[in-house]
Amino acid sequence: MTANPLAANPLRAGLRLPRTPDSCAVVIFGATGDLTSRKLIPALYNLLRGRLLPSGFSVVGFARRAWSDDQFRAAMKEAVSTYSREPLQQEVWDSFARNLHYVSSDFSEATGYERLAERLAKQDATHGAGGNRLFYLSTPPNAYAGIAHHLGEAGLSRGNDGGWARLVVEKPFGRDLESARALDQALGVVFRERQIFRIDHYLGKETVQNIMVFRFANGIFEPIWNRRYVENVQVSVAETVGVENRGGYYEEAGALRDMVQNHLLQVMALVAMEPVASFRADAVRDEKAKVFQAIRPFKDIARETVRGQYIAGAILGQQVPGYRQEEGVAPVSSTETFAALRLEVENWRWADVPFYLRVGKRLPKRATEVAITFKRAPLPLFRESGADNVTPNLLVLRIQPDEGISLRFGAKVPGTRSDVRPVNMDFRYGTSFGVDAPEAYERLLLDAMLGDSTLFTRWDGVELAWNLLTPVLDAWQQGARPLEFYEAGSWGPLGAVELIERDGREWHRM
Ligand code: BG6
Repeated sequence: MTANPLAANPLRAGLRLPRTPDSCAVVIFGATGDLTSRKLIPALYNLLRGRLLPSGFSVVGFARRAWSDDQFRAAMKEAVSTYSREPLQQEVWDSFARNLHYVSSDFSEATGYERLAERLAKQDATHGAGGNRLFYLSTPPNAYAGIAHHLGEAGLSRGNDGGWARLVVEKPFGRDLESARALDQALGVVFRERQIFRIDHYLGKETVQNIMVFRFANGIFEPIWNRRYVENVQVSVAETVGVENRGGYYEEAGALRDMVQNHLLQVMALVAMEPVASFRADAVRDEKAKVFQAIRPFKDIARETVRGQYIAGAILGQQVPGYRQEEGVAPVSSTETFAALRLEVENWRWADVPFYLRVGKRLPKRATEVAITFKRAPLPLFRESGADNVTPNLLVLRIQPDEGISLRFGAKVPGTRSDVRPVNMDFRYGTSFGVDAPEAYERLLLDAMLGDSTLFTRWDGVELAWNLLTPVLDAWQQGARPLEFYEAGSWGPLGAVELIERDGREWHRM
């Protein structure tokens, strides 16, 4: 038996060493696409830089374009120089680039997968990849099922020689309940659920993970995290960007599919779920699924939802075109670029506490946050002195870009009277930790290599989310809720204000 070094050195006991994954090959389908250049390759590069990758590590890009290994390396070097969190360092790059390879093939061409299999087998021998493969689907979603099928046919759904094979699937996972089920079935023919890692990059954000830490690593918040004390919860994602160069994709998606079905509902689930018994992947995902099960189906879609589309306007002093004028967008498009919803979670913790969700492109600023408003103090003791004791306590979890948490409470204004004013206690990641947080994709790629699916969505969660939202998509298509227009640079359509004012509340100003 080998001695345990941790046991031998008491000073190191309790110190958790960073986990390093097994040696493996990462195969990126859609390697010439935007996501690969902007996120995946820079993330892998930064993992190598942080010494978090295993020694036998390689990347194989797989795409249609007829590139050589060297052309792929040159394009990826450019990508790292442009998008990496840390600047490109030549020696790090050199050792990264040695392990980059490229296979050119159409996604539907069986021989391409045979060549891939040969390449991988060769790399097991030359790079010591240990027979382990992580397949990353970063292609248009209509290629997912076909790629999985071909991987199966080429004998790649299992690792080589006792190694593992995992499949990372980018969003969107389906475009409604039916298509998501069909995709799940198609993937399920080749891969088991535990091999499938569905990415929701919001779960890789530090501040989103911190929702669980904030709730469950502190003793003082959980006792008040319920209907007795919480008045309403708002999850808001505001973006200043329009559809950028993704008009074609966005036309088919819209804000509800693009952001609500995944990112917003995931954040909401982390806020609403019960404490977990452990941080095992299934324990966390069980609790999130219970939240989705408890969300009451919509009763009146016209009143409980809002959809909007931006028209031309100005953002930060710059004129921007309307959605219908964007490239790849139909001049009469009815795709929503803004969505707002009112949800209720019907369980003992949250009954009667509304959850408001809103998301939009071309809003005045970029900000993502969760705002939790608490009930007022039971006795208005300071009213007589004209004090403002009507401002309720408010907890804001700022997900990005000004990452932090603030708590608003009433304080006595200095002076001889008992005036009360709201003040904020503020925590900022930047000043408290002074370290640069890893990009979401770094954490998620590392976790997928480690086989830890805690921060990935499980099929039942995806299905429940579509089950909730598919009736909204259908009703919208039938005109149940007319599309409203909002000027770029405004906070969205009037309907969103009405949605919340009807309940006697207002959106938290971000
Ligand atoms: C993506 C959406 O999932 O998330 C984009 O497809 C959106 O439309 C993006 O802009 C927002 O991500 P982030 O990390 O910038 O908030």
